[in-house]
Amino acid sequence: MNRGLFICLCGKDVLSKSIQIIHRRNIRQYMKCNTENKIKRFIAENTEIVKGQSLTPEISLRLFTVKCRFWTERPELWPFPDPFWAIYWPGGQAVSRYLLNNPGLSVGRKVLDLGCGCGASAIAAKLSGAAHVVANDIDPIAAVATKMNCELNGLEPLPCVTQNLIGSEPENWDLILLGDMFYDETLTDSLHKWLNKCVKLHRTQILIGDPGRAQFESHDIKTLLYEQAHFELPDSVREENYGLTNSTVWCYRPDY
Ligand SMILES: C[S@@+](CC[C@H](N)C(=O)[O-])C[C@H]1O[C@@H](n2cnc3c(N)ncnc32)[C@H](O)[C@@H]1O
Repeated sequence: MNRGLFICLCGKDVLSKSIQIIHRRNIRQYMKCNTENKIKRFIAENTEIVKGQSLTPEISLRLFTVKCRFWTERPELWPFPDPFWAIYWPGGQAVSRYLLNNPGLSVGRKVLDLGCGCGASAIAAKLSGAAHVVANDIDPIAAVATKMNCELNGLEPLPCVTQNLIGSEPENWDLILLGDMFYDETLTDSLHKWLNKCVKLHRTQILIGDPGRAQFESHDIKTLLYEQAHFELPDSVREENYGLTNSTVWCYRPDY
């Protein structure tokens, strides 16, 4: 892993392609390191605890930084799928900020953070008073990182589900959070259909955070979204994200 690769991963097209292949790569090395305790140790040794450099300075996260060994190490030595959980993406930052600013959205509610990555939005929902929060990511390492990040913020580890929920029969979530999940057209199509079902069946509230990625901006779903909040990204986040300067929270309302 090196800085070049990571900056590259933040690019719109490469981000989509890389996440599609995350479960195919490095499987053999991954199996060598497959107990939760070993994974936790690896995450602790190869991330840095970061606080105060995002839109939610009150949340601490274990993230990949210039001080980490794999910033300069050969990428083939990285034992897991690509570590999208080691970045706090601008879309997730905006959703988390919005929740922390508006605790009424979370209090007493049943919340799903779909594509949780580092788990920051799930953590923001719990800190804001949600009754039940589930974090979901198809990368099992993201689930371990999310649990570690919960502990870092004084929370009991949240339940983390690693099945692909998109296309499954939706549960009666009060609120679904999606931070930076619209980076790929196929994923956006299937998410759109599934979210529509969630709203129709359970009147679930859907909040989407996105920094203006091309696949999102040009998708039909945009006509059914209502802007809730708009945040300027801090300088350090802009630098890491290759020209992105702000991030917006949208509410999906297919009924209007
Ligand atoms: C760009 S990252 C965003 C992470 C986090 N929401 C944030 O904003 O910091 C996208 C995440 O979605 C996860 N993902 C991709 N497809 C998924 C799916 N079908 N179900 C759940 N998670 C998925 C990836 O593993 C990755 O952690």
